Amino acid sequence: MKKVTIIGSGGREHALAWKFAQTLTWENVFTLPGNSGIPNSHSVNIADFEEIERFCMYNSVEMIFVGPEQPLAAGIVDYFKNKNIKIFGPDRQGAKLEASKIFAKQFMQKYGIATADFQIFNNVNDAKYTAAKKLGDLVIKFDGLAAGKGVFVCSSINEANNALQELEKTYGDNVNFIIEDKIPGDEISIIGFTDGKTIKLLQPSQDHKQLLDGDKGPNTGGMGAYSPIDGISDKLMQKIHDKIVTPTLKGIQAEQFDYKGIIYFGIMVKSGEPYLLEYNVRLGDPETEVLLPALKNNLYEVVDACLSNTLETITFEFEKDYFADIVLVSGGYPKEYQQGYIIHGLDNISEGTLIFHAGTKKEAGMIMTNGGRVLNVVGRGKTLNKALDNAYEEVNKIYFKKMFFREDIGKRKNKHF
Ligand code: GLY
Repeated sequence: MKKVTIIGSGGREHALAWKFAQTLTWENVFTLPGNSGIPNSHSVNIADFEEIERFCMYNSVEMIFVGPEQPLAAGIVDYFKNKNIKIFGPDRQGAKLEASKIFAKQFMQKYGIATADFQIFNNVNDAKYTAAKKLGDLVIKFDGLAAGKGVFVCSSINEANNALQELEKTYGDNVNFIIEDKIPGDEISIIGFTDGKTIKLLQPSQDHKQLLDGDKGPNTGGMGAYSPIDGISDKLMQKIHDKIVTPTLKGIQAEQFDYKGIIYFGIMVKSGEPYLLEYNVRLGDPETEVLLPALKNNLYEVVDACLSNTLETITFEFEKDYFADIVLVSGGYPKEYQQGYIIHGLDNISEGTLIFHAGTKKEAGMIMTNGGRVLNVVGRGKTLNKALDNAYEEVNKIYFKKMFFREDIGKRKNKHF
């Protein structure tokens, strides 16, 4: 029997485990460390690759799927290269497309990928003049991994100076970062699988990164997502392929990355033209929670095809319905928040609704909050509105102290497609 181990502990990993379990059954899908909503979760330190290896050998697991970016950036794929366990994800060099913003922008420049102009800095003082010249209308990106907290989208000199100050306070004087031109438009997530020879895309999805309705407030890990997106024309998709996806694949090949994994394009569409904002080298969260329910294919077969360089033989098939995910968070998130509150109402959820746990734990038989992002409630419908109605109807059955969620997921008016 085929067995897979998923690395990670969030809503994305719950959705992955659920999708694998549809064909492998839950007893053959292990998640490390997982969370209280994911059956077959095991408390293993995922920064310790030897411990992961021992776990997989003990349980006769032959495939590892890496959920988050940190283990990829730390070289988990390189570690397992000559071992008897297959692993899905890019090697450390490929993972730099996400782990280093400077590396990623230089890669985009080298391979002619449509993106915003940028400058590289290694101290905050040098950047102040540039920020002032651009009247603060710019984006500042810390070079390294920062769990979404290293990107500052600014609209005034004051905001830019505050962002620079925060960078200095967090990372010290000699911090590496970029300043790039701000591109106004509609942001979409285009996420694909690759075996290094071809890239096959899932359906477009849209995340809602800001905390508050109307896209206000601080950036979070993601407050909700939906898929597919109405209004993305074949012409726009062709441009995304020609200007972003295809040259990226050429770059991956030319740089000889060992890249069998996920490639995520964070794209801004301005007046019908796509620009690449960033790469991620893993599935998006919360995008995964709406993308995987829509995918009809057997996930094990897709991943296995990537690992054996035969992805071109796979044709993705998608459900015709729309999927919408509302993220329930602990009040105070993304800053300070309390946790350990009992979650009520999970017993009343309608059959067919998907609930993917993110920050939960089980204590004395009760499910409690255990993180900033707590639960993902995924609705499905023949239209986006129906999917949203279904999701919000279930959200209203759930309660925990200081629970917070956005009420306008999927309501953004995309004007640039
Ligand atoms: N949803 C954005 C991300 O996963 O980075």
